[in-house]
Amino acid sequence: MMVTKAIGSKAFGAVVALIFCVLCVMGNAWAQSDHREAFPWMKTTLTPDERANLVLKELTLDEKIILIHGEGSPFGGTNPNAYLSNGGDGFSLGIPRLGIPPLQMIGSAYGVRFSAANGRYSTALPSNLASTASWDPEAACEYGALIGREERAQGYNMSLAGGVDLARELRNGRNFEYHGEDPILAGTIVGHRVRCEQAQHIIGELKHYAVNDQESGRNLVDSIISKRAMRETDLLAFEIGNSIGHPGAVMCSYNAVNGDYACENRYLLTEVLKKEWNFQGFVLSDWGGTHSVAKASGAGLDMEQPDDTYYGAAMKKAVLDGKVPVAKLDDHVRRILRTEFASGIIDFPIRKGVVNAEDGLLIARRQAEQSTVLLKNADGLLPLDRAKVRSIAIIGWHADEGMISGGGSAQVDPPGSFAPPVFQKEKDIHDAVWFPTSPLKAVAAIAPGAQVRFASGEDPAAAAALAKESQMAIVFAYQWTHEAYDVPNLSLPDKQDELIEQVAASNPNTIVVLESGTAVTMPWASRVSGILEAWYAGSKGADAVADIIFGEVNPSAKLPITFPVSEADLPHPQLVGPSLEAKAPGAIMRTGVARPTFSVHYDEGLKIGYKWFDAENKQVLFPFGFGLSYTTYSYSGLEAMPDSQTGGGVTTVSFQVMNTGSRAGVEIAQIYASLPASAGEPPKRLVGWSRVPLEAGESKKVKVTIDAKYLSIFDEATNSWKLLPGVYTFRVGSSSRDLALTTTIAVQ
Ligand code: BGC
Repeated sequence: MMVTKAIGSKAFGAVVALIFCVLCVMGNAWAQSDHREAFPWMKTTLTPDERANLVLKELTLDEKIILIHGEGSPFGGTNPNAYLSNGGDGFSLGIPRLGIPPLQMIGSAYGVRFSAANGRYSTALPSNLASTASWDPEAACEYGALIGREERAQGYNMSLAGGVDLARELRNGRNFEYHGEDPILAGTIVGHRVRCEQAQHIIGELKHYAVNDQESGRNLVDSIISKRAMRETDLLAFEIGNSIGHPGAVMCSYNAVNGDYACENRYLLTEVLKKEWNFQGFVLSDWGGTHSVAKASGAGLDMEQPDDTYYGAAMKKAVLDGKVPVAKLDDHVRRILRTEFASGIIDFPIRKGVVNAEDGLLIARRQAEQSTVLLKNADGLLPLDRAKVRSIAIIGWHADEGMISGGGSAQVDPPGSFAPPVFQKEKDIHDAVWFPTSPLKAVAAIAPGAQVRFASGEDPAAAAALAKESQMAIVFAYQWTHEAYDVPNLSLPDKQDELIEQVAASNPNTIVVLESGTAVTMPWASRVSGILEAWYAGSKGADAVADIIFGEVNPSAKLPITFPVSEADLPHPQLVGPSLEAKAPGAIMRTGVARPTFSVHYDEGLKIGYKWFDAENKQVLFPFGFGLSYTTYSYSGLEAMPDSQTGGGVTTVSFQVMNTGSRAGVEIAQIYASLPASAGEPPKRLVGWSRVPLEAGESKKVKVTIDAKYLSIFDEATNSWKLLPGVYTFRVGSSSRDLALTTTIAVQ
């Protein structure tokens, strides 16, 4: 009895303790949530600025410092807070007592990075350059929204993406992460990507600001460029991206611009970005791109990443010593907090989840179909008729297994892969990754009646022999590019030109599918029957290419970069890299303050991409804006109505496009303007475009409005954009070198 009683009372005690404990935890949770909701800055009726100011008032100096730097690089180092990271490229702590979350940042150029290391799944979309070839702001929005969903599901609230340096240097190893050579096209596409990514309650970003147009010596180089050229080219892309996307963050780049490192360049960060463009977000440095405390802070750098070399204890001391005004520190902190409220990452805290992978793959496939450019189709060989094709040779390194993807911090890990040792050494990320989207299997699946055989091309003679025995040969050729490296030239690597020559010599029905990060030269172009540029085509690239080859999809994409005949035709036939001396350890600090150690003079100025080839009267291999379809289009009835008649600061251009072929398609109709001679501009610039879906035989009237800025020049004397009086010529057509219609307007 006694025993039972004793046990009973013990049990009773335990139950009471348990109930007490549960109540305790619940009470705590309630207290916390009550507490959280009770914070005045949690009122969603207040503006992000009001909310940020309220938090700012509560912060101690140490807490402010916590918010303006990162917590260490994933590539090494001993960070005591590492356990709080979500496994991304970097993170910054929050202020839990005030309900301010940490920033979990992840590289996401074409998909969410580091999935293998973190045991997660990410969809790889076609590269950013590829997505630009669709010329489709709606697709860019879908692109950003997909990445935003996957970022949040994986526990991130900030994206490191939105690269929009222009393809001024075609050998740039990161061109695949960017949006081509035209500022208006690039800025529009990146702006819509960021807009829709942020709509998922993610802090979005534009990078690498600015003129980070080559990777060779990227931390050492000084990009020398005139103010006018910079404003009308590289910076215009950022300006448009900012005005459409309202990014929460802008990442300043590794290089210097006109003498000052981008992350301590007052002109770039404060004068232009924050003042002229009214950028409300915060500027963070590229990884290791901060070089000072007071200079960087004064110039407008708000956050150091990935660590706290300058913006930790050194910043605190600088504030206490009066070298950095408290008001300046407060401005950095306010911008970060404001962005956190404006983006919704505080009101919609991260909840990890499982994404709909099938949905992602459908989107990836559709985007790849819209991004693949048909460059050549001799005698209408394509699309292939699956009822008639009896045998196909699939040739190319890895073409049995996969398609190549872009490397570096943009790298998305393919399903089925294991984590590379990225956390140990950054250099380990520089191995080519082939996504398991198999051209061989995709072609065999779409043409079940054909005999489909494979040769890797390692033995060109064997590949040529297989091509000879087959009715058709499809060569999948690659060019691998990645961060921190520029390609030495635009030739296909690994003797692929020779392989293609041999295959084409043994079978004239040869089609080349290019998987490239930037433009390539094609000495064999006249000897093959078909050429498709598939870029880095993402998770479903092979299906998309097969859909186009067999006519399930009518190609519509157009080139966002010029393909030159040879490097000799480029503004800089030779890449300018650092000398041994310029590369010496510590070279940038030899004067005590960070200084670039070599320069690239962008003296082609305004003449970037097609503007260069036009101005210099040079032939190209494939022009900017070019891309074929399985149908044909005609243009007529161009009219332009100037600003003075339309009002509202825009010129309206209208014309008729007709599908003159026998199948439905989408034509990307382009509008170029030539400014009055007094402007001193290259012969023409893209000022607008329209994607026009047309049934066979259908005709549509297209109306495009053109912002006055797109017709203006940047006047250095007055530091402003000017629409000059004079005659403006508008030309409309299907590519930068095929402009059937012309009209003029006079601007008073
Ligand atoms: C790259 C950035 C990237 C960062 C974090 C840097 O090396 O230049 O684009 O966001 O690393 O991975």
